[in-house]
Amino acid sequence: MEIRKHWLPLLIFGGGLMLSIFSCQHEPITIEGGDNNPIDTTGNNPIDTTGNNPTDTTMHGTPCDPDVVYFELEVLPILRSNCAKSGCHDENSAQNGVILVSYESVMATAEITPFNLGDSELYDVITETDPDKRMPQTPNPALTSAQINLIAAWILQGAKNEVCDPGAGECNTENVSYSADIRPILDANCLGCHQGATPYGGFSLETYNDVVAKVNSGRFYGAVAWEQGFVPMPFGASMPLPDCSLDKIKAWIDAGTPNN
Ligand code: HEC
Repeated sequence: MEIRKHWLPLLIFGGGLMLSIFSCQHEPITIEGGDNNPIDTTGNNPIDTTGNNPTDTTMHGTPCDPDVVYFELEVLPILRSNCAKSGCHDENSAQNGVILVSYESVMATAEITPFNLGDSELYDVITETDPDKRMPQTPNPALTSAQINLIAAWILQGAKNEVCDPGAGECNTENVSYSADIRPILDANCLGCHQGATPYGGFSLETYNDVVAKVNSGRFYGAVAWEQGFVPMPFGASMPLPDCSLDKIKAWIDAGTPNN
């Protein structure tokens, strides 16, 4: 936990400094071995769960209502993947005091006014048209309109932390489609870190070929299934992807990773 100690004074110092609204360090995010690694992956549990709320957010038996936006299932993965990065809005960096790693930290630091988009700083910065002010900052791509719409709907529904059991309904693992089933899971949960010129882990998951290459390397499924000997993905999450997502990924791999 050497690195954590090293970052703590930075965090306190950074919190005291009132930097320009929502800016974030421009340093490229690279993950390398050794002491320069901004993410502490030493030790048996590489996930920094400080500030996470490890409560079980999948309320068993409560089916998910398609009209409700579920924070931990739908919104948090977007924030984690695109914003809660080292140098930006993870616990250690906390640029401008904004930490986007859990419901509690988001509500405490991201200036969200429930039911009111105009008064919600988070919504403001993700829809900012000036690329110098937009979040995520360039060179990171802007959130997609689907992601922005989801965050907007969540705020308009009162920015609540509703829970449901994504496994309560049917999980259809027959004829799993890369474009209709797998791609949306990866876009929501992985892409923010595994894309662009300097992706986390040193590889991208942007294209079909990227994903298949990772699957064929033998490092993909074990990581998402949180198997022993793998770094659990999504990195920093307090729990694995919902069972149905994992079942679909497994079925797709077992079917030979079709490009369908
Ligand atoms: C918050 C950033 C972040 C997110 C989100 C994320 N990853 Fe990663 N990923 C990383 C980092 C960092 C590493 C390198 C970890 C290491 O080597 O210590 C990594 C490594 C991996 C590895 C290699 C693991 C191993 O043990 O060899 C796989 C596979 C992977 N990620 C897949 C995914 C998938 C699939 C998702 C979405 C379900 C995802 N990642 C989401 C940051 C992230």
